[in-house]
Amino acid sequence: MICKPDAVERGLAGEIVRRLERKGLRLVAAELRTIDEQTAGRHYAEHEGKPFFAELVAFITRGPALVAVVEGLGQDTWRIVRTLMGPTDPAQAPPGTIRGDLGLLLSENLIHGSDSAESAEREIALFFPPVS
Ligand code: RTP
Ligand code: MG
Repeated sequence: MICKPDAVERGLAGEIVRRLERKGLRLVAAELRTIDEQTAGRHYAEHEGKPFFAELVAFITRGPALVAVVEGLGQDTWRIVRTLMGPTDPAQAPPGTIRGDLGLLLSENLIHGSDSAESAEREIALFFPPVS
């Protein structure tokens, strides 16, 4: 998961991590880092060519983000994180979700969560490459 630059700017990274932790998930890796353009492009490769791609890369690289790996009890932790996040557009996200409670804009929706086990594996390797 990533607390996006808007979340860090607004001082909401702690609130987001708190929600995940209170659910029962645990941090296994976390780092405040400004994501570079190349990494952002690889991370959001599925969106390359879409009209919002340039804006998305500019946004995710504009300042420090909290890049983290969280762990739950089983294989479906990515799904639990997505449920807590809420739908992509904060304006449509229900209360009780991170995006529903804390955001307004589609382009500044506070949190990224992997959308499958395969995405989680790929993204963890991208942001936390194994040493050696
Ligand atoms: P994310 O990858 O950031 O966790 O968000 P997501 O899965 O909920 O949404 P996704 O479809 O992967 O889109 C990635 C980000 O691109 C922006 N977006 N803009 N203008 C548009 O139509 C549009 N669609 C998506 C959003 O900021 C979204 O989080
Ligand atoms: Mg996505």
